[in-house]
Parts: sequence; structure tokens; C-alpha cells
Amino acid sequence: MSTFQVELKKVVDDSYEIEIGYELQKKLIADIQNGLVGKIKKFAVVTDSTVKGLYADAIVDLLKEAGYQADLFVFPAGEKSKTRKTKEDVEDAMLAKGYRRDCCILAVGGGVVTDLAGFVAGTFGRGVPFINYATTLLAAADASVGGKTAVDTPLATNLIGLFNQPEKVYIDIATWKTLPERQVISGLAETIKHACLARKDFFEYLTENMDAVLNLEREACEHIAEVNCAVKYEVVMKDERESGLREVLNLGHTVGRAIETVSDYQLLHGEAVSIGIVAEVLLAYKLGYVKEQERDAVIALLKQAKLPTEIPEYIDREMLVQKLYTDKKVRDGKLRFVVQKGIGDVVEFSEGVFATPIEEAVAREIIMNM
Ligand code: GLY
Repeated sequence: MSTFQVELKKVVDDSYEIEIGYELQKKLIADIQNGLVGKIKKFAVVTDSTVKGLYADAIVDLLKEAGYQADLFVFPAGEKSKTRKTKEDVEDAMLAKGYRRDCCILAVGGGVVTDLAGFVAGTFGRGVPFINYATTLLAAADASVGGKTAVDTPLATNLIGLFNQPEKVYIDIATWKTLPERQVISGLAETIKHACLARKDFFEYLTENMDAVLNLEREACEHIAEVNCAVKYEVVMKDERESGLREVLNLGHTVGRAIETVSDYQLLHGEAVSIGIVAEVLLAYKLGYVKEQERDAVIALLKQAKLPTEIPEYIDREMLVQKLYTDKKVRDGKLRFVVQKGIGDVVEFSEGVFATPIEEAVAREIIMNM
């Protein structure tokens, strides 16, 4: 018998642009006309029930006016829709409408939409291009940038997915005005996370300008959109597949993701991450990497942003401790945490290693006392 060596070494250019601005719908259409996704003429616009009427319908109309085929694929708004079932529903609906490999997926919405649509794009017909048009602060700060796409499972969030980079990301700051206040606040948790892990000056900016941020004043919005993208870009460029550095973006997420699931999504993602940031700054303090004053400043900034900083009474803390083991950083059955160092930095435990094993008893003590 014979053996064949299939040589498939690849040089891949997954570079893409992130455009930050106001009312970018016409710019999106112009980019498509100018070849953003080559000669593709069919666009599956994936959105949720909230964003449909606000932005997605209008984008479909603009695409049609420009001579493209465009159809809407809508699912109910909320984290509970981010499932394999919704992915299947979107895929089946696309197939029923005649979509095949010659299409592009356009995600219009927040993090749930961009995560789910990006995952659909990664597997539909073995992969079609996708574009993210982010309409929430959370999607702008984190979800739409960096190519992590996924759905949740009953066990935990984001366990099934792909690294799949978009063709372009549009961050339309004008859309933040239509967000309910709770969603704006939720988006701020990822923003504060970026300040804690990478930007002391930004942490100070947020402390001094939180009212302007909460009032969505133009300059403040532009600044936070730009710094969020810069932090993500600096990390993702160096470690797209999370083999080391990218784990820093998990600050607050070991506890955050667990509590989000245990709350059965009563907590929004950012609210859960805020509580996670508190748990993890308490850990950093216990390990001697942040001073008391720095610990208090982190908690104070989260409070200034009107984010929750305590574990709600209804959370089963024992279940929360067990849920920590669903974290993707767990290795050999051991919990691993990213640890903040002062404000604006994280601990590098050894070269390229940014998460450290923590005994369950240590995590449990923090959780039981929050
Ligand atoms: N949301 C964390 C990351 O993009 O890696």
C-alpha cells in the first residue's frame, strides 16, 4: 500500500479593517460596491428581534436598492437565543431561501448576533465571508472584534465555536443612543476590563469622565470605542488563537462566565463580568499583585458605572464554584486565573503564560465572602 503526504502549508492573510463612526450604513454599501467581499451579490442579514426594526430592515433596503439580493434572518433577542438550535434555524432558513456558498453573512446587532452569525458563516457551505455591523457598546468593546465566534450550551457560554475573522467590522456609535441604559452599562464592563488589564491612563479617564460616558457624550463615546479596539487589536494581533497572551482578555471572565450561566442569564454578560472583575481583583489582592487602594479603585469604578459588584443573593454559590470548571482555561482539572497587576497590567507568570493555577479553596473563599 502507499502513503501520501498531503502538503498543505498555508500563508493566510486574515487582516481586516475596523471602522468607527456614525451612521455607517451607506459606507457599508459603498464598501461592498467597491469589492469588500469580491463579486458576491447575495447577503444574508442576520439580526435579532430588537435590532431588526431599528437598523437591519434599513440595511436590507439599502442593499436591495443597490441591486443586491438581501434577506433577513431574525431570531429572538437575548443571550438565551445563542444556541446550536438558533444556528440550525438560521442555516435551514438560509438553505430554504436558496443561499449556498456564493453569499456573505452580514451580522447586524450586538454580541449575541455577531458571535452566532460569525459561527454560521464559518460552517455554512464550509465557510462563507461575514461582516459585523455592531450596534451595541458590548459588541463594539469586545464581541465584534477578534474573530471569536460561538454559541452557548446548557453547561456554559461559548463552548462551541470557531476562530473566524470577519471581512470588516463597523462600529456605529450612533446606534448606542437606542440602547436601554442597562445595556450601555453592561457594555461598560468590558471597557473597564480593558482599562484594568492594559491602560492605567484609560482607567483614570473613565474615573474622571464616567458621567460623560454614561450620558453617551460624543467625545467620550469616540474615545472608549477607539481604546477598546486598540487594546483588543494589540492582543489579538499577537495571539489570535489564545495560546497565551489572549488569555488576558479573560480577566473577570472565569467567575463572570460561570455566574452568567448560574444566573440563567438573569445577569447580562457585562453585569456578570463586573462581578467577575471584583472576584478576580480580590484574588489579585490576596496574592499580593494589587494594593488595597488599587483593589478599592477597581470596585469604585465599577460602582460609578452602576455595575453590580456583589454576587446576588439568588446565586447558588456552591454551584458557582463548580461552574468555574467549565472555563476554557482549566488545564488538567485545575482552575486557572488571569491576575491583574496594579492598574493597567496583568501578571506574566512565565514567558507567554498569563494564567496561573489557583486552588479551589482559594476561589471558594473569595466567592463565599462576596
Ligand atoms: N472576549 C475575549 C476575547 O476576545 O478573547
